[in-house]
Amino acid sequence: MDVKKHYAESRKRAEEMLAKMNLTEKIGQLSQFGTSIYTNDEQVFEDHFAEGKVGSYLTIKGAEKTNRIQELLLSITRLKIPALFAEDVIHGYRTTAPIPLAQAATWEPELTKKSCEIAAKECYAAGIKWTFSPMVDIARDPRWGRIAEGYGEDTYLCSDFARAAVAGYQGDYIGQKDHVLACMKHYVAYGACVGGRDYDSVDMSMQTLFDVYLPPFKAGIDAGAATVMASFNDVNGVPCSGNKYLLRDVLRKKLGFSGFVVSDANSVMELIPHGYAKDGKDAARLAFGGGVDMLMAGDLYNDNIPALINEGKIDPKLVDDSVLTILTLKYMLGLFEEPYVDPDGEGCFFAPEHLEAARECAKNCIVLLENNGVLPLSKGKKVALVGPLASDNIAVLGTWTCLYDKDKTVTIEKGLKELYEGSVTVSKGCGYGDEEDEGDWKKEIKSAVAKAKKSDIVIACVGENRDMSGEARSRSSIEIPGHQKELIEELLETGKPVVLLVGAGRPLILSEYKDRAAAIVYMWHLGTETGHAVADVLTGAHNPSGHLPVSFPRSTGQIPVYYNYLATGKPAYNKRRFEAKYQDVEIGALYPFGYGKSYTEFAYSNLRLSSDKMDKKGQIEVSVDVENVGEYGGADVVQLYIRDLIGSRVRPVKELKGYKKLYLEKGEKKTVTIKLKAKDLAFTNDEMKKVVEEGEFLVFVAHDSSDSELSATFFVE
Ligand code: BGC
Repeated sequence: MDVKKHYAESRKRAEEMLAKMNLTEKIGQLSQFGTSIYTNDEQVFEDHFAEGKVGSYLTIKGAEKTNRIQELLLSITRLKIPALFAEDVIHGYRTTAPIPLAQAATWEPELTKKSCEIAAKECYAAGIKWTFSPMVDIARDPRWGRIAEGYGEDTYLCSDFARAAVAGYQGDYIGQKDHVLACMKHYVAYGACVGGRDYDSVDMSMQTLFDVYLPPFKAGIDAGAATVMASFNDVNGVPCSGNKYLLRDVLRKKLGFSGFVVSDANSVMELIPHGYAKDGKDAARLAFGGGVDMLMAGDLYNDNIPALINEGKIDPKLVDDSVLTILTLKYMLGLFEEPYVDPDGEGCFFAPEHLEAARECAKNCIVLLENNGVLPLSKGKKVALVGPLASDNIAVLGTWTCLYDKDKTVTIEKGLKELYEGSVTVSKGCGYGDEEDEGDWKKEIKSAVAKAKKSDIVIACVGENRDMSGEARSRSSIEIPGHQKELIEELLETGKPVVLLVGAGRPLILSEYKDRAAAIVYMWHLGTETGHAVADVLTGAHNPSGHLPVSFPRSTGQIPVYYNYLATGKPAYNKRRFEAKYQDVEIGALYPFGYGKSYTEFAYSNLRLSSDKMDKKGQIEVSVDVENVGEYGGADVVQLYIRDLIGSRVRPVKELKGYKKLYLEKGEKKTVTIKLKAKDLAFTNDEMKKVVEEGEFLVFVAHDSSDSELSATFFVE
């Protein structure tokens, strides 16, 4: 496929179409509608179709339905411009992959690419050619429920996953069969909402915005992302859905984005309660004028843009530009040639290869936090599988599922019973703490404990229900919720070894269990193949290799705790009183970013640099020998961090600048070489210029972000 030619031809056809369109039809292309959010009345659509007021849909699922609506639309509209169906296909359409935060724990963007390919294939079959994914918001606050939807706290890692997700969804070119448009969201800094409260304000330095929050968007743009979603929040007082500077100057001009921007659901109307727009018309002016090409969802653009043009408040040229971009993508997608999908295509749902890939991804997401040797499980033991997640076939799917089928979920119970050669008894113990009626939880805990007493080992499947994370699911405490902590205490009291198997959409507080649990396995919410992946890890069929994409705090009050904080004048060495620390909690995360154990051990030695000098446009190679010195074969994630020792602005104490995941047999040793490029050392200075400054840098090759054992120095000249 000659991509340039494909674009040029599509653009030309879009221009020809534009020439035939009246203003109503043009604005219609900028308007999206959705059934479940705003109306269930298809008549409304028919009325709108007749006038050409609908360009896109969301929340309509399935080939039968998308085909039916498309047919209706094409039979009524004058110009027969097909609708673009969109959906939140966040981690799978029917086959549910692990939540994105879990995927980031693989440190294998290729697995995410594959997972997005599968999601794309399944939703394409249903007639959906545009997904509102990936979410590339950096999240440094685990109180924020939407941390589940993104790739964690680190800009470098998140950028890699952004690229991979866009490539997975969109394929080699726009219009490739079984691929769909990606939408990077939420532009921008949505994850930095004050207090971790979803939708709340964001106030940050422009340097932090440019260095921490924007690069994942830039990475996705460079990978060809066709669309971007404007976020609900304001940044420094200007709501993103009407932020001309961020949408036109930064996104388009500085970052080079050439696709179209869609608002978030109702985010344009929300300019009114923000106190930024005085009414709907004003909101439409600010949003469209500000650079939001398409409205999700409703008639605000249809109803107001014509008058705004008449009054000279909107330049009609801007309308043409937006319509052209949207139509060009519709032509590129091939919607005009093939507006329908073959319903037989839906036969790909839950295809064996989709399930296999979901399992492969899921088992690589699991992070082993603690292990006193009880894992992998030895054969022939009596295992008590306890806790609300043990047999739950919905919670483990996680937030933002699409058309899941709970009967396809492999529960932990099912997976373990299939794979484990020993006996497994199961009891719920208690609920998650989110039901109004918690039932007779004391009795349930008692019966679980009775079973635990008769076992050799207890696996406590605890954590969050799926609706405890995700949109509008911020929490002021991220302790293990409900009565589950009581359950854990009673299980620990039995004296049996207790493995905590924690499922959640965010980091939870585990300080009390760090030294008392026989093992702690963090499984997040792993999707359809949960039970298989968990059983693979618990039995040792798969040696855990997940590493945290986000820091785990010691207590909720310690939040935000992220590894790449700026150096302070009173660093916390824990030696004196006057240090940047709390009185009542230890310094640093309980489990730092990058942390993850294995059933084996990896030793690093012989760190060397290809040169200790780096040109401002150059690069050096950092090499280290990695040896598997333990008892099992396994995969390790070798991490490269830097520290810029002196800067014209205060620099972070550490920054991830490279990593390599590799598999080593027991006793095997390999050299890992990671390229460190000068451009990766750049930051935004006081004059808002991206600069690489001269001077001394430390480079660390580390097991996680808290590991400073192996370091070397180089100079940028
Ligand atoms: C969310 C978006 C989502 C949209 C459409 C909004 O509330 O913030 O992430 O894509 O709804 O469902």
